Amino acid sequence: MKALMLSGGSGTRLRPITHTAAKQLVPIANKPILFYGLESLAAAGIAEVGVVVGRTKDEVMEAVGDGSAFDLKVTYIDQGDPRGLADTVLISREFLGGDDFVMYLGDNFLLGGINDVVERFRNRGSSENAHILLARVPDPSRFGVAIMDGEGKVTGLLEKPVEPPSDLALVGVYLFDPTIHDAVRAIEPSARGELEITDAIGHLIKTGKNVGASMVDGYWKDLGEPEALLEGNRMALERLTTMIAGKVTDSKIEGTVVIEAGALVVDSVIRGPAIVGAGTVVRSSYVGPFSSIGRYCRIEETEVANSIVLDNAVVSQIAELEASIIGRYAQVLKRANRPISNSIVVGDHSRLELI
Ligand code: TTP
Repeated sequence: MKALMLSGGSGTRLRPITHTAAKQLVPIANKPILFYGLESLAAAGIAEVGVVVGRTKDEVMEAVGDGSAFDLKVTYIDQGDPRGLADTVLISREFLGGDDFVMYLGDNFLLGGINDVVERFRNRGSSENAHILLARVPDPSRFGVAIMDGEGKVTGLLEKPVEPPSDLALVGVYLFDPTIHDAVRAIEPSARGELEITDAIGHLIKTGKNVGASMVDGYWKDLGEPEALLEGNRMALERLTTMIAGKVTDSKIEGTVVIEAGALVVDSVIRGPAIVGAGTVVRSSYVGPFSSIGRYCRIEETEVANSIVLDNAVVSQIAELEASIIGRYAQVLKRANRPISNSIVVGDHSRLELI
């Protein structure tokens, strides 16, 4: 079995972070979202992965390399502009050959991995042509939604329905046999101009193919939006174990905390779960639960919690920072001179909630 890892797209919902960086490379607990997915593929015994890339191709290729760091053999498939999830299958025809494959959306985070569902698909005999994973969500109209019959069989799929027929959202991991190749060729672009994977799976159902479904094991989240990203960060931090490799002086470390080698914590309180990246200096500050501080940051005279601070950012003399995402090289500073009103230089598509 092979895999397609989707790492193109436009990431509009995570702007401004995705103006300058690939969505899939945004870190949670200081590790890119994409790496969790690649690790799950390797753990499920998959060796050959086609990584679909787009506008952020260079950055993704630099981060993933030839895949050997994950025990994977990676082939890059350049999609250019995002033309839909089914289009990624279309352009990967040669790489996929006649193999079964897992299609994994690179911004999805599944804590329980995919070992069981991959194993079941491998051993299914000829009973299924495709298998989808489902999760109950409170807001199904934002997802692909499955229509099921009384026996738990999938009878149809709807993309972001206004009136959802169920609360069963499609998780971003799909398993296919080669019959999907005819399906992605048979469908037309949707109203939003994309080749939808839900239409391709719908085509499988209409042409008498068998589409199985099961509920996802454990926590799952599509990390495509800021609130979801912070939630994924909290879940990832909860799985850490304490490791203090950096230097800590005159400070209190409480709970599960990782201080990476080369970090410096002075005169501060770090209350886990939290992580402080290599080369970062935390001085006279409080880093509270569910904070991921990236590499080469400067946090001084600040209180931060439940936040993600990306590499090389500076946060100085900020009394309370909560539920925040600070981009790379961003500076959040207390105004030094009067008038003490807010003074901001803020990028396109940013969001600030000021008090
Ligand atoms: P989405 O989150 O559906 O799309 P997006 O990344 O363009 O984000 P937004 O809606 O905020 O603009 O994509 C799911 C995953 O699949 C994500 O990792 C990007 C990837 N993808 C591709 O690689 N090619 C595509 O054509 C599309 C639509 C998505």
